[in-house]
Amino acid sequence: MKDKINLIKENALSSIKSIEKLEDLEQVRVKVLGKKGDLTLILREMGKLSKEERPIIGQYANEVRAEIENRISDKKIELEEKLNEIKIRTEKIDITRSINRFEMGHRHPLNETMEELENLFQRMGFSIIEGPEIETVENNFNKLNSPMNHPSRSTSDTFYIDEDTLLRTHTSPVQIRTMLAQKPPIRMVSAGRTFRYDEVDDTHSPMFHQIEGLVVDKGVTMANLIDTLNVFIKEFFGEDMETRFRPHHFPFTEPSAEVDVSCFNCHGKGCEACNYTGWSMELLGCGMVHPNVLRNCGIDPKIYSGFAFGMGIDRITMIKHGINNIRLLYDNDKRFLQQF
Ligand code: PHE
Repeated sequence: MKDKINLIKENALSSIKSIEKLEDLEQVRVKVLGKKGDLTLILREMGKLSKEERPIIGQYANEVRAEIENRISDKKIELEEKLNEIKIRTEKIDITRSINRFEMGHRHPLNETMEELENLFQRMGFSIIEGPEIETVENNFNKLNSPMNHPSRSTSDTFYIDEDTLLRTHTSPVQIRTMLAQKPPIRMVSAGRTFRYDEVDDTHSPMFHQIEGLVVDKGVTMANLIDTLNVFIKEFFGEDMETRFRPHHFPFTEPSAEVDVSCFNCHGKGCEACNYTGWSMELLGCGMVHPNVLRNCGIDPKIYSGFAFGMGIDRITMIKHGINNIRLLYDNDKRFLQQF
């Protein structure tokens, strides 16, 4: 019987030695020490032994049992430590790694154009003025010498808030605000949102953007206006770009002109985009400030003269980036905006 016990012990100890997984260790424990385990079954046969042999074998069996149990628990600790080590090694967190959770965006192409224009005029000595989008009828029309029957005043063209207040239809009321607030010499630009009762199509939106310019001083002439706009056009669109001033009418300037610029596609050579004229039409409106407008702002037209201009920022942005649909500027679709 002792031999049988020794055999079980040796088998158990050698298989415990070579075990690498906790599950296998448990299996050995069950096979040897479990209710139906080898050692347990042997001990059940103790009854067959003589009275003298029984305590000796019994004690021996208990020693063997204790030894196997010890080996199993040693092995268990060893395996658990190994497992822990592997865990520590593989589950290490590198807290210095950047996770790039925030994607940096950039300015909208419209704002970019607006700032580019402002910066350019600032370098030419203009200051930047901000005006409100909600304006008085007085500033938007009356003080700008617009007659009561002017079509732009009609409720089908303009968003009125009440009889005296509206969403400004152009940035020109900032001319008035500036002349009422400061004395000449004045040299300012002002960019921002403007509103007209337009149906949305590829080139129209009821909300769009303009930049306004105003210069008032002694002895300002049409030559100053033409030169300023020429410098601006060449700076902004390229040295080879020419301007053409066509007579026009605005109530707040006299004389008034509309300005065409060399075709952005062919730079004047003539192409399909410009109908072989070499010109891009109506980039901006301008003129010498009407004496009535100066007078409305308390500036004596006998002493001072001035020029003003206004242009659409949306159109310029579209030309600059080859965008053919104004809606794209307002959709806020990241797939479109990421390109710029
Ligand atoms: N306010 C005019 C428009 O919106 C443009 C303009 C500005 C014309 C200044 C002349 C002088 O069409």
